[in-house]
Amino acid sequence: MVKICCIGAGYVGGPTMAVIALKCPKIEVVVVDIFEPRIIAWNSDQLPIYEPGLDDVVKQCRGKNLFFSKDVEKHVAEADIVFVSVNTPTKTQGLGAGKAADLTYWESAARMIADVSKSDKIVVEKSTVPVKTAEAIEKILTHNSKGINFQILSNPEFLAEGTAIQDLFKPDRVLIGGRETPEGQKAIQALKDVYAHWVPAERIICTNLWSAELSKLAANAFLAQRISSVNAMSALCEATGADVSQVSHAIGKDTRIGPKFLNASVGFGGSCFQKDILNLVYICECNGLAEVANYWKQVVQVNEYQKTRFVNRVVSSMFNTVSGKKIAILGFAFKKDTGDTRETPAIGVCQGLLGDKAILSIYDPQVPQEQIQRDLSMHKSELDKPPHLRPVSPIAIEQVTCVRDAYEATKGSHGICVLTEWDEFKTLDYQKIYNDMQKPAFVFDGRNVMDVDKLRQIGFIVYSIGKPLDAWLKDMPAVA
Ligand code: UDX
Ligand code: ADP
Repeated sequence: MVKICCIGAGYVGGPTMAVIALKCPKIEVVVVDIFEPRIIAWNSDQLPIYEPGLDDVVKQCRGKNLFFSKDVEKHVAEADIVFVSVNTPTKTQGLGAGKAADLTYWESAARMIADVSKSDKIVVEKSTVPVKTAEAIEKILTHNSKGINFQILSNPEFLAEGTAIQDLFKPDRVLIGGRETPEGQKAIQALKDVYAHWVPAERIICTNLWSAELSKLAANAFLAQRISSVNAMSALCEATGADVSQVSHAIGKDTRIGPKFLNASVGFGGSCFQKDILNLVYICECNGLAEVANYWKQVVQVNEYQKTRFVNRVVSSMFNTVSGKKIAILGFAFKKDTGDTRETPAIGVCQGLLGDKAILSIYDPQVPQEQIQRDLSMHKSELDKPPHLRPVSPIAIEQVTCVRDAYEATKGSHGICVLTEWDEFKTLDYQKIYNDMQKPAFVFDGRNVMDVDKLRQIGFIVYSIGKPLDAWLKDMPAVA
């Protein structure tokens, strides 16, 4: 029986391994993590991450051929294929700070693999890493190998949160990069055989190591670029009276452009986009490609600009101050159908409003109160660390309360900011909400999911990203 061990039971490792176990009943899959609470949660009815369909997959194979364990070394030693899916946050200090990936967790995982291995292994890079990481990892493994043969593969993950299980069941493609040696090709074939249990052969792409590593960064950079492009367009739409949804629809009909990923928003979030672009920027700089680095930096800059623009709209609409005013924040996750808040635009928006002394009442259907408070009170660099290395969060911020439903959040507030496109926000009783708010009552839709006409009929002053401005907002000072 082939044995797979995955180091890191996070958003990538957990769902990916659960699906491999489901689709390959004859393969034993063990997911290990040094953060014990996560392992306990994976073994309970309350999984540590919220992902539609995941519960079902885990229930079908946990205890049969899928196991979660904190016994990292034992299971790594026994495995034929070791996936590494540990955190790769952006470096906060030293060379490449703010851009380069911090490979500390990767390196320590690699050293541990070399230490405990007694048989040949295929080691698979799953977490996004800078191009040429495989080479560095290979060196660590071979210099500590004690005669054991390690083959390193890059098999980047393209799943998106909220649709992870569907993405894993029906991937657009599976990418496997390896050495162009006979041993490297044999290792590629072994991993290909795993995916071939359910992925059609033509969807499994095999490349050299560097192409696989770079493709992952490139895919995320291209996706993020599309969002920044449409967000940049949204500012122009507001200035000219065009409607960004109409523009997106019109350009998306061009088959060369296509309709997906053209929704203007308060900004992109998630654990990958920003991190991967910064990585790309760093690699460009290291290779003397300053112009190319600057090109990609723009994508991140526009994303920051979009959040600032949103905060400025809120503040300027409310007579240029939100000091002491209650503002309801609907949605904190970086997108719907996930409880993940990494790099969520809500953090920047809330911090911006708190900077202007607003009083925030936050509701998100999936993000727990402690998470929101941790996100708002912790330094950005700390949020990227593995949970066991994060400092204990300082006491809750006084101007922030987290509540259990949207009606409580909005009651008595001056304005509502919609920051995640949760479906339930579309069907709230906005007449009731309006009645319970201060007047004038504002809605700032950062996701373009509200029925603007209906809200205006009720009496709300509404701002929607990239849409023709409400008469009220037209008279306000320019925001930029
Ligand atoms: C992304 C990639 O899609 C995935 O392939 C990769 O493996 C990991 O990074 P994820 O971060 O889970 O996945 O979410 P994604 O759906 O890509 O959304 C990222 C951000 O962009 C979210 O904040 C989302 O709200 C925002 N977004 C997306 C927009 O603002 N507009 C869009 O049109 C699409
Ligand atoms: P991703 O989104 O890439 O899956 P996560 O942060 O959700 O990232 O998960 C990474 C996991 O890796 C964390 O649960 C962390 O505890 C775990 N981890 C980090 N270093 C190690 C290590 N050396 N051994 C085992 N697990 C590790």
